[in-house]
Amino acid sequence: MSNIVLECKDVFKHYELRSGPLEVLKGVTFKLNKGEMLAIIGISGSGKTTLLNLLYGIDSLNSGEIKIEGQEISQMSTEEFRVFRQGHLGIIFQEFYLIPSMTAIENVMAPLIIAGKSEELALTVAYRLLERVEMIEMANKLPHQLSNGQKQRVVIARAIANTPKILICDEPTRALDTALGDEIMDLIEELIKKEGISVIMTTHDPEMAARADRVLIIRNGQLVEEKIQDKKSFDFQSAKEVYQRSVDAEKMVTTETKTEETSGKKTKKKSK
Ligand SMILES: Nc1ncnc2c1ncn2[C@@H]1O[C@H](COP(=O)(O)OP(=O)(O)OP(=O)(O)O)[C@@H](O)[C@H]1O
Ligand SMILES: [Mg+2]
Repeated sequence: MSNIVLECKDVFKHYELRSGPLEVLKGVTFKLNKGEMLAIIGISGSGKTTLLNLLYGIDSLNSGEIKIEGQEISQMSTEEFRVFRQGHLGIIFQEFYLIPSMTAIENVMAPLIIAGKSEELALTVAYRLLERVEMIEMANKLPHQLSNGQKQRVVIARAIANTPKILICDEPTRALDTALGDEIMDLIEELIKKEGISVIMTTHDPEMAARADRVLIIRNGQLVEEKIQDKKSFDFQSAKEVYQRSVDAEKMVTTETKTEETSGKKTKKKSK
């Protein structure tokens, strides 16, 4: 059996803007292995959320291939994909997206009810999940009564409610301080170990990226692998350097593009 749980091949995605198409992903290719934590880093606006949205089927690609456990997701109908997603994918959005009028436990119950579980079973499972993320005493609180760290725990419980094989995390520690961020990462690592879940995570934080098995940098619409021989040898300092290099490279590309655009305009004017 293949060890690859997710595979992207030559994925292209652009947005149609009034000013013309904005090319965001320009041939993204990578694989995610079973039980692996893969981190994607890149500067703001480089396309991290766009990529995760394609994986979760919130948005559709323009060309290329996304296979989850060997199945090409763009070949599925909306209904087929909805059912497939329930059994395969969990997501932690960049914003928490908890339903404000529902308590913590009701938020965790929601995906179970949507997946057709009875209210009784959903309640039992949600209770167990909140226990796991140490949020039982907050079960009946509404999201606005929770701290960011507590919200993120509820979000994780919700994301794993239907026992996904792949957890997609968009900056899971963004709203948290370092200590809380570390706790959330511990929780995610525990899921990998105990449940065999595979994780794809975006982050701005080199320290969090350093905890991943592999780090990919999104640069100029493509993913570039940063070779790391040994996870332990990829320390905080080198993670910081990797991130800085990605920022510098992106700046260079942006400057070059702008220069090209400007010189292009000048040439046009001249030719008039
Ligand atoms: N629905 C959309 N319509 C038009 N443009 C979009 C849309 N979504 C994203 N973009 C643009 O695509 C680019 C990539 O956005 P994306 O949100 O994927 O970046 P990101 O790497 O996740 O950034 P951040 O680190 O700030 O979250 C940006 O230039 C953004 O403005
Ligand atoms: Mg984003």
